[in-house]
Amino acid sequence: MIEDAIEYARTAEKAELHMHLEGALTPELYLKFAHRNGKSIPFSNVDEVRKQYEFSNLADFISIYLDVYSSLGTEQDYIDLLDDYCSHATSENIVHAEIFLETQAAKSIEMDVDELMAGCVKSVRAWREKGIEILLIPTFLRHDPEDEAMEHLDSLEPYYEEITAIGLAANEVGNPPIKFKNVFRRARELGFKLVAHAGEEGPPEYIWQAIDELGVDRIDHGNRAIEDDVLVARIARDKIPLTMCPLSNLHLCVVPEMRAHPLKRFMDAGVVTTVNSDDPAYFGGYLNANFEAVVHALDLSLADVKELVANSHDASFAGP
Ligand code: HPA
Ligand code: ZN
Repeated sequence: MIEDAIEYARTAEKAELHMHLEGALTPELYLKFAHRNGKSIPFSNVDEVRKQYEFSNLADFISIYLDVYSSLGTEQDYIDLLDDYCSHATSENIVHAEIFLETQAAKSIEMDVDELMAGCVKSVRAWREKGIEILLIPTFLRHDPEDEAMEHLDSLEPYYEEITAIGLAANEVGNPPIKFKNVFRRARELGFKLVAHAGEEGPPEYIWQAIDELGVDRIDHGNRAIEDDVLVARIARDKIPLTMCPLSNLHLCVVPEMRAHPLKRFMDAGVVTTVNSDDPAYFGGYLNANFEAVVHALDLSLADVKELVANSHDASFAGP
């Protein structure tokens, strides 16, 4: 039974809706980019890099993730990064991926956003020919002020045609969605789909705000909605998908063990739930490993996995 469910997850054509491209920056690529861009780093091999990948919360992770991010510098780096992710993704039968981009942080590492976007756009075109459709979702840094997010949104204007949605990520607690009400309104007026990380560490109130104040089309994570029955009913009724990331949640101590993950409880409550990898270079696996982990821990049936895979397509921003 369990084998059938895992085999289906492995072989079915899937969509991945919650994956930070810079979270697919492996220790190998980190060393390569740092060397190529003449950036000095305190590590000489992948084992040393990997040794620091132990996190007790989201802030721990974001700090290391942004250090590793600072190795990036050129269009070619982004082409290499997308090549690496897309090779994994196609080998796992992912046919559609909606990818977060850390465009706002580029300034702090003196990376030219034009190079970042040029690398992505070229790579997306090349990979479309090879069987995977990629949509791009720049994310705002929620620990920075809203006016910086607004300025950043304006600065992306040359790339509006290449961008599908706008997201909200990084350090959640203390940075509620409502802080970004104006810039999300502007993004909506510009015609973008909207998503926001909410309820990964933050309280259910943050998820209410993402829905009612920002008007998001999907919630990224959403774990803590499980604490609020009225919220669960609302998310189910309005078919607001959750893009859940089981291995990420385990590694960032959002759940104490995989058996405590709320994914199946959301499915049972009629919520459109999806499985995703978040930052696969950090949390022990790409998409299939996430499916495998929840199938085992939550005893998911073949029907459950079929529902999750179907949801991945239905909740995507792909055209019909
Ligand atoms: N949560 C919030 N922000 C992020 C994450 C995450 O898991 N990964 C990259 N930015
Ligand atoms: Zn995420």
